[in-house]
Amino acid sequence: MSIPESFVLSGGDLMPRIGFGTWQMRELEVLDWAEVARDRESSRDLLSEARAHFELMASSDVLEPAVAAALEAGYRHFDSARVYENEAALGRALNRWIGNDPNKRKELFVVTKLPPGGNRPDLVAEYFNASMHDLGLDYLDLYLLHTPFAFEHVPGDLHPMNPDGTIRADLTTDLIGVWKAILKLKDSGRVRHVGVSNVNEEQLQRLCAVEKPACLQVEVHMLCQQKALIAAANKLGIPVVAYSPLGSKALADALATKTGREYPNLLQLPAVLKIAQAHNKTPAQVLLRHLLQSGVAAIPKSTHPERIKQNISVWDFELSDEEMSELGALDRGEQGRICDFSFFPGIEKHPEFPFKKS
Ligand SMILES: NC(=O)c1ccc[n+]([C@@H]2O[C@H](COP(=O)([O-])OP(=O)(O)OC[C@H]3O[C@@H](n4cnc5c(N)ncnc54)[C@H](OP(=O)(O)O)[C@@H]3O)[C@@H](O)[C@H]2O)c1
Repeated sequence: MSIPESFVLSGGDLMPRIGFGTWQMRELEVLDWAEVARDRESSRDLLSEARAHFELMASSDVLEPAVAAALEAGYRHFDSARVYENEAALGRALNRWIGNDPNKRKELFVVTKLPPGGNRPDLVAEYFNASMHDLGLDYLDLYLLHTPFAFEHVPGDLHPMNPDGTIRADLTTDLIGVWKAILKLKDSGRVRHVGVSNVNEEQLQRLCAVEKPACLQVEVHMLCQQKALIAAANKLGIPVVAYSPLGSKALADALATKTGREYPNLLQLPAVLKIAQAHNKTPAQVLLRHLLQSGVAAIPKSTHPERIKQNISVWDFELSDEEMSELGALDRGEQGRICDFSFFPGIEKHPEFPFKKS
């Protein structure tokens, strides 16, 4: 089975099917929402401590060497977001590699996202400009709506919270108005494609009635295979990018500590281990190959050079039809979702919250 290495977007632009994720997770690991709810003052300290830690992880110490290793390993598709607070570090690493050669910029496919606090038509351009400033690039390849729900716009605070520990949601979101404002960014010539993330099928259809997104980025992995949503996107001709393709261990661990729920480690699923051994590949490579053969792109994140190399070396083996069916049967549907945004308490009440409420 031959799989093209990239999706071809309008104008012939190539979006590589293996990209590099840059969400470092540190903020979630150290944030204790219960404590946030108990004491607003100490929550500020906790939040500042968390942000400081997160910034360190997103800074030159971790992100820049990881991006350099990814470029060296052959990655050309890089995924960021305003809320990851790492656009400046990513921009530095990419610009160092580009140097003065405009042809090298053309090799890259750089993605960032509008934060939920910017989900108002009159704020979209401001947030886009801030991302472009930090990235230090002349143009962006893909700008995504990060979430269909919105937070209140609080300058300098991307995750504004109420004193009781709930997120300050903006319940008046005009999703179509925001999408039209994102589409308008293309007129500036500073973004080549625009797309969406974390929307459900009904929302995708509504957005398509205005204009088809160039890409849909959603959680897809062995336990949350999103078969219906992928089929719907395929029917609409929208390429799907799988986020958290390896099961986002840091997020799963943080949520398990907070909720007591069990999150199976995808890299240790018996069927995955067995198939990895049969092909002399690692479990991560089997997870990624399964996504490629399911017709989607994937953006694994790692800060370890060996794993970074491993995760893009998935083109020289093939899973059989039997193996694909065995892995396909591991899907747990909605139960398998990890990134359910429960780390933004109260957000499930937003009218555009995209997932089935449990
Ligand atoms: N649109 C959205 O809302 C959204 C949400 C979540 C994620 N994303 C994007 O998707 C990207 C990927 O998702 P993710 O970061 O959640 O998680 P992920 O890529 O599924 O998993 C990352 C975890 O797997 C580990 N890992 C990576 N390669 C490995 C290997 N070969 N063997 C064993 N362990 C390995 C990493 O550890 P080490 O770093 O220590 O190697 C890290 O703990 C993000 O970075 C972000 O860019 C988007």
